[in-house]
Amino acid sequence: MAATAVIGLQWGDEAKGKIVDLLTDEHDVVVRYQGGNNAGHTVVAGGKTYKLSLLPAGILHPNVLSVIATGVVINPKALLGELDRIIEQNGPINPKSLCISDRAHVIFPYHMLEEAVLEKSRKDEAIGTTMRGIGTCYRDKYGRSHAIRVGDMYYPELFRRKLVEIIDHKMTLLRALDPHVEPLDADAIYREYSEYAARLKPHVCDTTAVLHKALKDGTRMLFEGAQGSLLDIDHGTFPFVTSSNASGAGLHNGSGVPERAITRMIGVVKAYSTRVGGGPFPTELNNAIGQHIRDVGREYGTVTGRPRRCGWFDAVVAGYGARLSGVDCLAVMLLDVLSGLDEIQICEAYEIDGERTTDFPSHVERLAKAKPILRTLPGWKTDITGVRKLSDFPKNARLYIDTLGELIGAPVEIVSIGPDREQTVMCGGK
Ligand code: IMO
Ligand code: MG
Repeated sequence: MAATAVIGLQWGDEAKGKIVDLLTDEHDVVVRYQGGNNAGHTVVAGGKTYKLSLLPAGILHPNVLSVIATGVVINPKALLGELDRIIEQNGPINPKSLCISDRAHVIFPYHMLEEAVLEKSRKDEAIGTTMRGIGTCYRDKYGRSHAIRVGDMYYPELFRRKLVEIIDHKMTLLRALDPHVEPLDADAIYREYSEYAARLKPHVCDTTAVLHKALKDGTRMLFEGAQGSLLDIDHGTFPFVTSSNASGAGLHNGSGVPERAITRMIGVVKAYSTRVGGGPFPTELNNAIGQHIRDVGREYGTVTGRPRRCGWFDAVVAGYGARLSGVDCLAVMLLDVLSGLDEIQICEAYEIDGERTTDFPSHVERLAKAKPILRTLPGWKTDITGVRKLSDFPKNARLYIDTLGELIGAPVEIVSIGPDREQTVMCGGK
């Protein structure tokens, strides 16, 4: 039995999509288990570029079963739009190759509206969310009283009754916060969502049962984490996090597959750091080097197009992410972006109130005080995008890779030096 998980160890956007796509060939089932269409994966395969948000990368492979499991929050309109785009690019998909959990919670227009009102009211303290209604949908899930799951949409009376009651309640709240909020029409939303439900129906099932059966049958499974460990609701840089468990901690609750079934936990890191949205970022570079990384790495959000904040690699962050998920090995992505720099710095510890620490601060105010203790490494000037073997990297690039592995405390098994599948070096213990 083989079950692999791919987890981001930073603040998301680690290029997990490429690793998942590469590994999909060796797996029969690919599972998304948390987050929603706040995630954005760009996958380049067969000369085509695909932008995936809710769909597991397995969708590009006809013989792979793609599962959107229970812990995901689903915007059906966004999901159907994504499916239509994939069908346009790749041709029809077999209904049996995509399963959507009937237990997953559904995002409605009021979730986006509520998020917009809440974010606006926080002004400078805004989280800087993707505005996809992710946090507000998860809030309703945990609150329980005003939540609708995918399965509810197939009980028309129950669905309509719930929707009318919820929309009435939401409008009362929203108007109190912002009198200019446009009213929502419960009947129109009911009709719209009933159509989405009808289109999704061939895919909707009890994904937990499907996964348990797959586990019993020895099927090879790949778990695709969205976001990154530092955006984890419990373990990340709260409140500047997303509303799900984006570290390995989310795998079990989001999929229903026990964590001990995972045989290989791969931690994915970018060769530097980025972050979108608010919150302290100790190694942030608000200078020409930061801009250089942003330009070369095309660090603009896949989902929102926002420029990403860029900085040096932070081993305190990645080491913490690696420990949270218990990673077996690392994939280092976008190493080519650092080519051409004279020197490269890595944060190996923080200094907080005059003390050195490699523990990640639990409070955001303490993190804001952290001064990065930087190790300076020599850069490399040559183009590395054509490297295919570990031994072919320039000496300084090799030193950089080894230093990342040493500071994080896990072996680097994969190095990516460009978006194409071929631009991948498998280190294989060498
Ligand atoms: P992938 O899967 C990077 C960030 C948002 C914001 C915070 C909360 O591409 O790595 P949310 O809309 O989730 O409530 O926003 O989380 N965020 C991401 N940042 N990559 C992502 O996904 C992200 N998904 C959410 O920018 O700071
Ligand atoms: Mg992204």
